[in-house]
Amino acid sequence: MTRRDWIQLAAAGAIAQSVQAAAAPFTLPPLPYAYDALEPYIDAQTMQIHHDKHHQAYVDNLNKAVASEPSLAGKSLDDLLSNLDALPPAVRTQIRNQGGGDANHTLFWNTLTPASKQKMPSGKLAAAIDRTFGSQDKLEAALKASAAGVFGSGWGWLSLDKNGKLAVVSLPNQDSLLSSGNRPLLGIDVWEHAYYLKYQNRRPEYLAAIFHVVNWDFVSARYEEMAR
Ligand SMILES: [Fe+2]
Repeated sequence: MTRRDWIQLAAAGAIAQSVQAAAAPFTLPPLPYAYDALEPYIDAQTMQIHHDKHHQAYVDNLNKAVASEPSLAGKSLDDLLSNLDALPPAVRTQIRNQGGGDANHTLFWNTLTPASKQKMPSGKLAAAIDRTFGSQDKLEAALKASAAGVFGSGWGWLSLDKNGKLAVVSLPNQDSLLSSGNRPLLGIDVWEHAYYLKYQNRRPEYLAAIFHVVNWDFVSARYEEMAR
């Protein structure tokens, strides 16, 4: 191989690498704890399949959708989900579903923590919960009712609405609060993939369990950051 051949080959490799990087801008974040860290409330097998298979599939399909539409290159997931109506129709549904799935799950993993480390909301979030819902118990009851009431697959959400107020809402499928100008603080995943192995059809039991492992520290810090 001549030096010139080598340079051409190296350049081709660099281009291939950069094309590959551009084609797959989104990656699966690692779980911030072990698969079994949320036992006995959420079982290890569910966590492994939920994170490694379901979330990975959202990431892979999001990357495929973005790669199919050059005008989306370089856009953040927040940007994409916040401006769904501006997206080319050919990819809009995929970004909504797969991008929503990626964003919702990335937040979800961070809003959970081993029960032994759980602390209740603090600071500004605790005050806002009392002001808005009356108490922590009432907020949790509202979130459980919202999540229990989702028909089929979806999420119950604690959101910060456009006016900076806390609100409990449910959304179907992987729809993102960002798409309606609201911001997610805590999401409760009620797709069957989140609970079926351990709880089968008993969604209320899963909902009672998951509140033992909500990372209110993380949610409190997120609220302080977002409510500024
Ligand atoms: Fe999920």
